[in-house]
Amino acid sequence: INVAIIMGGYSSEYKISLISGQVVYDHLNKEKFNAFKIHILKEKWVYVDENDREHPVNKDDFSVDTPTESIKFDCVFNAIHGSPGEDGLMQAYFELLGIKQTSCDYYQASLTFNKRDLLSVLKPYGIKSAASYYLNLGDEIREDEIIAAVGLPCFVKANKAGSSFGISKVYEKEALAKAIEKAFAEDNEIIIEAFLNGTEVSVGVIKYQGQTKVLPITEIVSENDFFDYAAKYEGKSQEITPARISDQQALRVTNIAKLAYERLKMRGFSRSEFIFVEDEPYMLEMNTTPGLTTESILPQQAQAAGISMSELFESAIWEALE
Ligand code: DAL
Ligand code: MG
Repeated sequence: INVAIIMGGYSSEYKISLISGQVVYDHLNKEKFNAFKIHILKEKWVYVDENDREHPVNKDDFSVDTPTESIKFDCVFNAIHGSPGEDGLMQAYFELLGIKQTSCDYYQASLTFNKRDLLSVLKPYGIKSAASYYLNLGDEIREDEIIAAVGLPCFVKANKAGSSFGISKVYEKEALAKAIEKAFAEDNEIIIEAFLNGTEVSVGVIKYQGQTKVLPITEIVSENDFFDYAAKYEGKSQEITPARISDQQALRVTNIAKLAYERLKMRGFSRSEFIFVEDEPYMLEMNTTPGLTTESILPQQAQAAGISMSELFESAIWEALE
């Protein structure tokens, strides 16, 4: 089985994705799978061989010709965070080509990558989220209206981005304009949300052996003011699995994460973030190509469930080929 592990991408998250992709490559059982590293970067789409030689990908059928072989892929393992791997673009391309792939379908990717749209689609199912205010690039910025809607402090976020790029916590009206400018550097839409004071948890949901499986819940304790880039990738946070929440809270958030996954007709990996306000979880977002480095949350959750990284990645391929 020829597996193309796609990594990189066009967003600020490309460096993290290159690590995730390498980790997937390192953990895939080479007796079962022929694994190929494919870098999808703005300037080039290339297969990077064992000697770090690069061979261009034929975009018309996603095949690769090297001096010695012509490679066609049976399955794509998607390890791209952000566009074009998490927002549906690659998913739609592979669907058109008829190539199986590990992540969810293009519609689900596109919907979930858009924080505002995801949260509003889930609201009728009783899934709560913070009060929010939405801005398109070029909209008039009415600061008083924003603060009346979400209060202070608030979070200013790029609506379609990951790894906390473009996010600021804003404590005073004077800091709002700068935060908005920072978020617009990552995306042409932004979402401004009320600050929720409570315990943050991360819930992984995967398809495993044909079933929807909710993994043990992780509690996130950031040393920084919030779970920002440094907290995520420079060790400035503690990630505690299983989370120190009550059984009742764990059951509630497990059911909500599963409901969201099933109602949205998800496939593949997902990792959703919530903040508990007393016993009620408020959803922040869903990641459909979550980080897969050895320090990332989803692999840690799988391990806590007795699923090794190799088993986790292998199962994603079998589910994709089903
Ligand atoms: N967006 C990052 C990679 C994550 O969700 O883990
Ligand atoms: Mg995210």
